[in-house]
Amino acid sequence: MVDINFLGLSLGVTLTLLAVSLHYARGTGWTPKPDISQEVLEQRASAVSETEFAEPMNRSVGGGAIPAGSISTGGEKAELEETDTEDSKSPADIPDDEVEYFEIEFSKQGETVDVANNQTLLEAGEESGWEMPYACRQGQCVSCSGKIIDSGNSEEYITHDNQQMLDDDELEDGYTLTCVAYPKADLTIETSEAP
Ligand code: FES
Repeated sequence: MVDINFLGLSLGVTLTLLAVSLHYARGTGWTPKPDISQEVLEQRASAVSETEFAEPMNRSVGGGAIPAGSISTGGEKAELEETDTEDSKSPADIPDDEVEYFEIEFSKQGETVDVANNQTLLEAGEESGWEMPYACRQGQCVSCSGKIIDSGNSEEYITHDNQQMLDDDELEDGYTLTCVAYPKADLTIETSEAP
């Protein structure tokens, strides 16, 4: 049989309640830390340099939201683009009021015609009514080839607009692809001559 000491029990309960009351009356001493998240974000933003990428490419914190189209290309870049445009210009783009004419002798046809420097030798031959050989008309085969019989490299007489078939020796021997050959000097050509 368990013998309960009610006096001791109530004394214990009373002391426990007293200790709990004192604890809560004094508080835990804990205070919330200040919210520094905004401060951290601002610090990170100031540490990241501005970029020139317009949104949405610019994902960096603090990156400049520059409206599309307002990006400066910079002097050097602009110069490069200008050079590219110059290089990629075709003689075919020369406006008619700026063209120069050269005397082209087609030796096999026995005729000499004036050809503008924005016209190919192939086109000039066709306009004259001659049967001219060709296939791709893009400088990518040798069907239209001919030989400039004046001495020297064929590129002293004509500008090739993107010919991809003739090597340096063949050009040196006077060969040309008439479909992409624009005159820049008087010359004599034998058509249907391949290297
Ligand atoms: S037709 Fe093909 S290179 Fe002239």
